[in-house]
Amino acid sequence: MENLTKPLIEVQDLKQHFKIKGGLFGRATQTVKAVDGVSFNIYRGETFGLVGESGSGKTTLGRTLLHLYNPTSGKIFFDGEEISKENYRNYAKKMQIIFQDPYASLNPRMTVEDIIGEALDVHKLYSTKKERRDKIIELLKLVGLNAEQAQRYPHEFSGGQRQRIGIARALAVSPEFIVCDEPVSALDVSIQAQIINMLYDMQQEMKLTYLFIAHDLAVVRQLSKRIAVMYLGNVVELTDSESLYTHSLHPYTQSLISAIPISEPSVAKTKQRIILSGEIPSPINPPSGCKFRTRCPKAESICSEKVPEFREIESGHFCACHLV
Ligand SMILES: Nc1ncnc2c1ncn2[C@@H]1O[C@H](COP(=O)(O)OP(=O)(O)O)[C@@H](O)[C@H]1O
Ligand SMILES: [Mg+2]
Repeated sequence: MENLTKPLIEVQDLKQHFKIKGGLFGRATQTVKAVDGVSFNIYRGETFGLVGESGSGKTTLGRTLLHLYNPTSGKIFFDGEEISKENYRNYAKKMQIIFQDPYASLNPRMTVEDIIGEALDVHKLYSTKKERRDKIIELLKLVGLNAEQAQRYPHEFSGGQRQRIGIARALAVSPEFIVCDEPVSALDVSIQAQIINMLYDMQQEMKLTYLFIAHDLAVVRQLSKRIAVMYLGNVVELTDSESLYTHSLHPYTQSLISAIPISEPSVAKTKQRIILSGEIPSPINPPSGCKFRTRCPKAESICSEKVPEFREIESGHFCACHLV
């Protein structure tokens, strides 16, 4: 059961700024503000959705939560305890990630048995060779693969099967929290539902908590009770999925929702598609004030002058927009 009183993950004003070489001859240093002050809670047993177009900072945020990148500033708590530079290794077993690209995330020179076994080795989760092998086969079966496939290499599998291997690897250490970073974006539409259903079943069986990242709201909606919308390093809106669909407040969210295809013709007729002009700006030199204002159909002069505060508009519904 979901417990809405005690967060498993707490994120407070988290920033991830990358220093890169830029300018003429690469002599200047530039700062990429990939995640630029983000706060939210994820409760035990829930699927927390994170959406936003490519380049908004979703992957960076997910990886920073797991300390795959050291945060530039801000705080991350797991079950009430702060994760720090000193202690983050203690959380490696509790927090796992499923990567977006099942082709790039599995070592091509390792057999499936070794890929999954590596996770067991790192955390010493067996006492005999036989126990190790039994665990690996059990995990393969759990994700719909079989013992005969254990000796094969990643290239012998389809995209969907590779993602199953990635999921087995994440589950090998019995984590409590999993960042699912666009786990189905690279897969055929026909395979996507299988993987999503499997992730859902695992969550029920193993009482997992997910951060589920997608650039597509329709995918996130299937799994998530609460959804955060990210734009250029910031969460601009956060609420439960029902109210996000029925009365989103932020113009960016509204444009994302208007882009979801509707199969019902009567609804489709009344729905107006909001098309954003231009590309997402660079996180090196983001626009002043509200970062969305350069593409916002409703922008006014205040939007370029002041950063909008991320505030609770209704109970549980947060939004960062001057015009709301
Ligand atoms: N290691 C890195 N070094 C420098 N810039 C990065 C790095 N990783 C991501 N970025 C930049 O940070 C921004 C956010 O990227 P990312 O987190 O991958 O977004 P998303 O997952 O939403 O597509 C992008 O502009 C990207 O180019
Ligand atoms: Mg990404």
